[in-house]
Formats: sequence, structure tokens, C-alpha cells
Amino acid sequence: MKLHRRTFLATTAASVLLPKLALATPQVLRAEPVMAQILPETEPATRMLGLNGSTPGPTLRLREGERLSVRFDNQSGQGSALHWHGIRIDNAMDGVPGLTQEIVADGETFDYDFTVPDPGTYWYHSHARSWEQVERGIYGPLIVEEASPPAVDRDITVVIDDWRLERTGALAEDFDNRHDASHGGRLGNFARAMASETSVRQGDRVRLRLINAATARIFPLELTGADGFIVALDGRPLPEPQPIADLVIAPAQRVDIIANVTGDVALSVPTREGPFEIGRIAMTGENPAPISEPIGPLPGARAAMPPATPDQSLTLSMEGGAMGGRHGGSGLWSFNGTSGLTDTPFARFARGEAARITLVNDTAFPHGIHLHGHHFHEVEAGGSLGALRDTTLVNAGESRDIICVFDNPGAWMFHCHMLGHQAEGMKTWVEVV
Ligand code: C2O
Ligand code: CU
Repeated sequence: MKLHRRTFLATTAASVLLPKLALATPQVLRAEPVMAQILPETEPATRMLGLNGSTPGPTLRLREGERLSVRFDNQSGQGSALHWHGIRIDNAMDGVPGLTQEIVADGETFDYDFTVPDPGTYWYHSHARSWEQVERGIYGPLIVEEASPPAVDRDITVVIDDWRLERTGALAEDFDNRHDASHGGRLGNFARAMASETSVRQGDRVRLRLINAATARIFPLELTGADGFIVALDGRPLPEPQPIADLVIAPAQRVDIIANVTGDVALSVPTREGPFEIGRIAMTGENPAPISEPIGPLPGARAAMPPATPDQSLTLSMEGGAMGGRHGGSGLWSFNGTSGLTDTPFARFARGEAARITLVNDTAFPHGIHLHGHHFHEVEAGGSLGALRDTTLVNAGESRDIICVFDNPGAWMFHCHMLGHQAEGMKTWVEVV
């Protein structure tokens, strides 16, 4: 999965602004066709789907513990539903057609109403034909602020995505391409990091909230022009801020960085031909009173609990795909020999039970495995508990243990976030009773 510069069309370094649309009261998120300027200004716009007139949709921003009430008005032309990725949510609000709610038919509405218990960087996206609807643009950022946020001059959301575009600027319509689905998923030929600000000042302390909204592309990233630390992964604060090295962000993952601006802030993808820039925030002027206190952990960061003996130990084996070995599922991909959701969950847990799950990647491709409604600890090579995540990247031929306390009652999807893989069977569910 080496990236080549020529896998992307030429792009300008001009920064692209994320839309800042206020939500009407009562808040309505209307999925609908939009024209989006994905290519540079001199090129044609692209017909996409979006929310309230733009893709990405409006940034929803609220404070921990607050309540979000949204009427989803589906004018997209297809059945849809919204999933609130990473939120410890009431199961009925999780937005999974066929598991937690009926699909919202075109022209119909559905009311989502829930509290956001934990601060962090999240996003919302369609969970119906997601490999198509997320690619078409039905998604947006969801930011939950800390009750007392860390001091920064700018809090900047950066959505990273790629698109497969025709020469005319139109989105390639081959959403059900089986070659993509059996390989790494639908990879775009144009990529961009879209920031909510166009400029910063020298000496500003910035918080960068990176969200990978791509349906399949894993972005290895280089950040220049900002000197600081990773402070949170998938919305959860790290007990100790980590240096920004080997920054890799899989589909659906988030990375929060706090850093001091030293130049134009740029994100690049390393390629064999050198770094390929996908977004830049210009540095203009100087901050007369820079924040000088050291960059520390976010409020609420807790050291990992010692690994308690889990109540259950389970194995989830990823199988299938091109160049794959053993595979018994009916789709291109499967978990433990089964493709897609069946009436029986992969596992049932009594509320509060802890489980250690070994994710075995027995395929020739990487997979980003996402559990709904919970965060889990990645278990590190030495056996210690690593970061809390809601989506973990397991490379081809590798395996990873996760430990999760299943404390949120309901039926929760557990699937690959390479969305074409999910479409072709790499999904299951768990039940917490
Ligand atoms: Cu972000 Cu089931 O997905
Ligand atoms: Cu996958």
C-alpha cells in the first residue's frame, strides 16, 4: 500500500475551509445533493451529497454532558441514517439501520436526541450504504468540548478525505466495484486536509483535531510548522502526551494534537517521491503573548487500569479478500467464517463484563476495526494496556488484543471501517444485556 505521488491528481496547496454553518433551531440536519468544490477553484465542482448545503456537513460543537437534539431530514434520494461515531450513546440513537433503527426512507425524518457524556473529537456519518454515502459526503465533525478546555489560541478541526474523481470533476460512480472491495477498498485519486481556519500566527498554540473521513485510505502523515504533542486518540485523552512521530490515521480514527506554530502548518503524505502536501494553514503575523505553560495531558486523562482478568477471552478472525487464504463466508470478507449480520451476535456480555478479544488479521490487507458504543484498550506488545480507542488498525498478517469493558447495554456493530469491506461482509455485532 505504498503511496505514489501519481496516485493523486495534481493539487494546489491552497487551504480549503471547512464550512462553518450555524444550525437552525430546532436543529435540522438535512441530507441533500450539494455541489462541492473538491478540485481547485479553476476546475469544475463535484456533485455530492451533503448536509445543510455542504460536505463535510456542519460542525456540531457542544460541551460534555450537553444534549444534542437533531432532526435528520433525509432528502438525499436514498434511504439513510446517521451514526455518531465514537459517542458512548444510548443504543436506540446509534443510527444503524437494521440493528438499532429502521432505515430513514428518502423524504422522511428521524429525531436523534442524546447526551454526549465524554469530551473529545468525534464525527457523524451515514450508516446506510456507507461505502457510497460517506464517499458521497454525508458526514461531518462532532466536537465535544471539555468543561474546562486546555488553553489554546485556535481550536482547529481538520477533516482528511480522498475522492475518486473523473476528469470532468464528477465522482466516479463505481461504488460497488468488486476489485476495490476485495482489495484495500475504494482509494481516491485526490486527497485533501480541510481545515476550519485559513491562517494562524507565529507562536499561536493550536489544537488540531484530525479526522480521517475516507472510506478506505490509511493516511500516514507528516506535520510541519507546528511543534507539540499528540494529546488524544479517537477522542480519548492520553495519560501522557506523545511526540508526533509515525503519525498514521486509519479510516474513522481521530488524532488530537496541541502544538505551537513555527511556520505554515502543513500536512503531507510521505511518498516515494517525497512528501505530498494535502493541506496548509498559512502563518501570518505573530502572537504578541504566546502561551508559555508546557503542553500537558488533557483534563480527564487517566492512566490505564492494570489488566484485570477479563471475564471472557474471544477471537475475531478477519478472513477473505484477494490473495486471502481460508474463508468460509458468503461475501468477499468474513469474521470467523461468517459474512454480515446474523441473528446471533458474535458475543453476549452481561453489563460491566470485561473481555479480551484477539483480532487476527488473516488477510493480505490492513483493516480498521471499529466497535460501536464503547472504547477499548489496545494491548501493547509487552502486554501493557495501551491507548483507549474506538477503531484499531490491524495490519495484514498481524493480530492485536483489545480489552473492553462492555458497560453500555444494547446491540452494537463491530466492523471494519474500510467501508467496502463492511459492505462485503466484514461486520458482526455484540449484545450487552
Ligand atoms: Cu463510523 Cu459503524 O461506523
Ligand atoms: Cu477491512
